Amino acid sequence: MSREAAKATKLTAKSLPRYASVAELCRKRQPETPVYALYPKRIKRAVDRFLKGFPGRTLYAVKANPALPVLDLLYASGVRQFDTASLPEVELISRRFPQAKCHFMTPIRIRGWAGEAYRRYGVRHFVIDDIRELNTILAETRARTPAERKGLTIFVRLATPVEGAFLELSSKFGVDAEQGAELLKAVAEAGCQPALTFHVGTLCIKPEAFAQALDICRHALNLSGVEITALDVGGGFPAPYPGMIVPPMETFFAAIKGARKALKLKPSVELYCEPGRALVAEGVSVVTQVIRRRGERLYINDGIYGSLDEMTLPDWNVEYPRRVFMTTGEKAVVEVGGPRRPFKIFGPTCDTLDVLPKPILLPHTIEAGDYIDFGMVGAYSCALRTAFNGFYPDDFALVNEP
Ligand SMILES: Cc1ncc(COP(=O)(O)O)c(C=O)c1O
Repeated sequence: MSREAAKATKLTAKSLPRYASVAELCRKRQPETPVYALYPKRIKRAVDRFLKGFPGRTLYAVKANPALPVLDLLYASGVRQFDTASLPEVELISRRFPQAKCHFMTPIRIRGWAGEAYRRYGVRHFVIDDIRELNTILAETRARTPAERKGLTIFVRLATPVEGAFLELSSKFGVDAEQGAELLKAVAEAGCQPALTFHVGTLCIKPEAFAQALDICRHALNLSGVEITALDVGGGFPAPYPGMIVPPMETFFAAIKGARKALKLKPSVELYCEPGRALVAEGVSVVTQVIRRRGERLYINDGIYGSLDEMTLPDWNVEYPRRVFMTTGEKAVVEVGGPRRPFKIFGPTCDTLDVLPKPILLPHTIEAGDYIDFGMVGAYSCALRTAFNGFYPDDFALVNEP
């Protein structure tokens, strides 16, 4: 392990400073670089919703937010299984939580990684959407005996071009029901445990999208005549961003439960889901500071190369809750209300692309030194930050707000 990596593993949720509120964080800390405020109560609530409500096992999709203190909070809330989509993610989870179970849930892997994950970390669940990948997994793992083959669960990833998500994934991964049926047969013939998986796309606000995807699974199963041992409905579960009509999570769980019945699977077939966004979105905000105001332009200390990349996605009409805090003369901090006007928000780097795609409404009195707290940025924020131009947001604090 490199010295940097060793240093990084010392960062734990328990070691973080705690504040009663973001206002207190701003007052006591007066941060000049971005701070990720982590809300343990919100993470626990999100995890409970899945652990108690989802009719199967919940795997956290590490890609959504692999920050160590966030992983700690998820683990402390009861998450024990992880959807890991690269060898570094498998290593990260296996080292940090030796009792946890990793599932290698992507059909695209760097050569050699399936073998490493299998031998060094005991990973037994893999995904394919191509026959060559089945052969690669068998070759890399060197699973030859019937018992070794039986110990491997190979999920066939189906494309599910259904509507309801803000960003679809089926134009990149997955096969149709006919091809899926052929792959299921090949997995069964190889002596491995056949299984099915899909992903309806991220931020899916229609429960029926899961039911439609499960109907595609039903079709693949009928064509193949193969009995699967596991079914993974992927991620894509939403978070309740402001202004968005998001059905309660229970509606998604009920749709999945109902559609699973139509598949007439044996009760022993394990059901999994892999939420990323839904477990972490509400649990993190990023507290940024205004560096300079020029008319209706604000230059802040974070941007699209840091925590705000997701805001630049095409057709991404997602609002993130915002609060503005102002430092007063005596170093007290107050939340600013009053009339709002649109501001163009630039990040701190030298790049003109480092600007939020649409203006955002903020109090008209906002000035350099004030703080803008962008809420609900737990998913795909720190996960996508870069060190471009020397800016790398990496400060975390716990905030006790409900
Ligand atoms: C295979 C897989 N599982 C789970 C997820 C997590 O998705 P979400 O954050 O939308 O729940 C993703 C996201 O890209 C994915 O590709």
